[in-house]
Amino acid sequence: MAFLELKNISKRYGKTEETKVHALKSVNLKIEEGSYLAIMGKSGSGKSTLLNVLGGLTRPTDGVYIFNGENVSNLSRSQGAVFRNQNIGFVVQNFALIHSMTVKENVRLPLIYGSYRRKEIDRRVKKILEKMELADKIHAYPSELSGGQCQRVAIARAMIAEPKLILADEPTGALDQETGKRIMDLFSELNAQGTTVIIVTHDKDVATRCGRRLYMEDGSVFE
Ligand SMILES: Nc1ncnc2c1ncn2[C@@H]1O[C@H](COP(=O)(O)OP(=O)(O)OP(=O)(O)O)[C@@H](O)[C@H]1O
Ligand SMILES: [Mg+2]
Repeated sequence: MAFLELKNISKRYGKTEETKVHALKSVNLKIEEGSYLAIMGKSGSGKSTLLNVLGGLTRPTDGVYIFNGENVSNLSRSQGAVFRNQNIGFVVQNFALIHSMTVKENVRLPLIYGSYRRKEIDRRVKKILEKMELADKIHAYPSELSGGQCQRVAIARAMIAEPKLILADEPTGALDQETGKRIMDLFSELNAQGTTVIIVTHDKDVATRCGRRLYMEDGSVFE
């Protein structure tokens, strides 16, 4: 049994003929646990939509999504939130940091609904921020950070709960080559420890580091 399985997944946006978009067209996909997967394709081909479905952020219009043996296609809003919190670290395309919160408060968010002790949360925040070379920014607000630093805060937040699945939408897009490489090293390290990592990227160098590559075109997926 595959870790993740999409069966005939479709996603349509818009209600009128004019605004209708068929963002995913009957996608069938199996992803094994421990995979390191790149998703490539032109702008508008459906990459973010696919990632959002895999992350439980977007409900498909049709089809079935099986996560670790469990059908998660029809979770309610609150069930979906619990499912994401327990299983998935998500680095979204525009980071989605909360601007009224400091770096520390942003990074620890995935832990505060769990049963972690305060000390354990602080220890993890400190450790991951050191890894991201952001230790000195722990009390800064996102508006006081560069784009690349915000990116690294978002990645720290995705990793802190040590999820089984990490989804990253253009995680190196806003980074210089050197920092981008270091982030990719981190993803590789997590993957070596068994985490399934799925990355949307336009960067060929990033994609060649992944074990498997998928290409999207007009809502369809090709191996
Ligand atoms: N919330 C939405 N409402 C309506 N249409 C949407 C919505 N989100 C995405 N779309 C449309 O679905 C299609 C796929 O979008 P998606 O964001 O998945 O593309 P992408 O491959 O991630 O592109 P990019 O590389 O530019 O990020 C596009 O035509 C887009 O306009
Ligand atoms: Mg996108």
